[in-house]
Amino acid sequence: MSFDLVFFGGTGDLTWRKLMPALFQAFRHGKLPAGGRILAVAREERSDDNYRDFIRQRFDEVEPAKRPSDEEFARFAQLLHYRQMDLSKPDHYARLKRWLDEPKAEEGRATPADTAVLYLATSPHLFPVICEQLGAVGLNHDRVRVVLEKPLGHDLQSAREINAVVRSVFKEAQAFRIDHYLGKPAVQNLAALRFGNALFEPLWRRESIANIQITIAESLGVGTRGDFYDRTGALRDMVQNHALQLLTMIAMEPPPTADAYAIRDEKLKVLKSLKPFTPESVQRDVVRGQYRAGSVGGQSVPGYLDEAKVPAGSRCETFVALRTEVQNWRWAGVPFYLRTGKRLASREAHIVVNFRPVPHPIFAGMSNANKLVIKLQPEDGLELHLMAAKGSVGSGSEALSPVSLDLDFDKAFPSERVGAYERLLLDAIAGRLNLFVRSDEQEQAWAWVEPILQAWKQDTQGPRPYVAGSWGPPAASALVARDGFMWDEEQ
Ligand code: BG6
Repeated sequence: MSFDLVFFGGTGDLTWRKLMPALFQAFRHGKLPAGGRILAVAREERSDDNYRDFIRQRFDEVEPAKRPSDEEFARFAQLLHYRQMDLSKPDHYARLKRWLDEPKAEEGRATPADTAVLYLATSPHLFPVICEQLGAVGLNHDRVRVVLEKPLGHDLQSAREINAVVRSVFKEAQAFRIDHYLGKPAVQNLAALRFGNALFEPLWRRESIANIQITIAESLGVGTRGDFYDRTGALRDMVQNHALQLLTMIAMEPPPTADAYAIRDEKLKVLKSLKPFTPESVQRDVVRGQYRAGSVGGQSVPGYLDEAKVPAGSRCETFVALRTEVQNWRWAGVPFYLRTGKRLASREAHIVVNFRPVPHPIFAGMSNANKLVIKLQPEDGLELHLMAAKGSVGSGSEALSPVSLDLDFDKAFPSERVGAYERLLLDAIAGRLNLFVRSDEQEQAWAWVEPILQAWKQDTQGPRPYVAGSWGPPAASALVARDGFMWDEEQ
């Protein structure tokens, strides 16, 4: 199956930092279908060779194991092309259409591709104009797919406006709204664990589960993205999309089939079941924080307000912790805690399913209950924590201690591991929608976070400070402690 892949925003951060390295991995693994061309478009003038050099240099910033050798890059570079494009000019879209419709034999293929994947790696405010112009030149026919990067809008209203334009030009089946967390291997494992095994399903409910914790912690600060980040904040950047998508995967009912529409119907139901926030519950159940100077991994780091391009006195949140519930029969009353932040103690993302304790403990000193930890990063795996007898002489049955069954998927399937963007790009080329977000899911997620945004606008207190390198403001611990629980690392 031949393909053309076009990156709008072809010289931007996302393209060189994530997309090109991911494509290169797909190429290296022999997964990229033959007969492909990759076109980057952006405002500045460059030749193909100049663009290839630009990408080649950027690979120096990619982790060493993922950098190409000279010989590998030379082969990969043959797929890469560059065209200058002003996104406001209709004739530039006509030129793009000609490039797609009339390939040159020297570019590796002389007939139009089976699929054209148009990846909008630009700021979302450009999505409507790009989609309209693509529609105007007829680049919305059935062989075209459009990939939309997050964040799609900055609130419900703007997300609706963008989606309305996307829907007026493309069919829903052509729209691939990306949330790269859905491409992480751990998310496939979660689906496999729940729907490929009968073991956990009877336990996957309020009767057996005490609480669920979703943590996406980053040790990095906002780096050079201060201006973007300050307009966005952790709620829009991480909670509305990544954290909520993980929550839907945990809480959804088993779909009738593995079809993209069936899966997304179930995820949408979860989003619709989330307990709506009120001004009072935002006050009680949502903690926002902002990092101050501190130290991460032994290095002193500045506070958020001293980062480049962050406006003085900014009240932007770099941390959010919240408590919610999924209001349906399966989950009624079970707290779901979500937490994400920059400059936290370590880079790790995991979901912890805490089971209820035994109903009648007969062993003395038994405080730990079972838990299942789904690890997304840094490594990807599953840990099941059980209680076992240590069996040391003379200790009797009191010496129970926690042990864990630890499945390391990187070790179990070493040659099969595929990074999130690599997987999602290959899925978009192949037309597999399962791991992409439907517009109604996305809008429902915005509708749910909207009262938090509103309440914060009225709130005079602003984010709570936390020291860089900690686990966020103490209020985040208090949020969980109020229900009699602790965050995983405090246990
Ligand atoms: C992006 C956010 O969507 O996800 C970034 O915009 C964040 O702020 C990144 O750093 C985290 O992704 P990952 O895969 O490194 O956890």
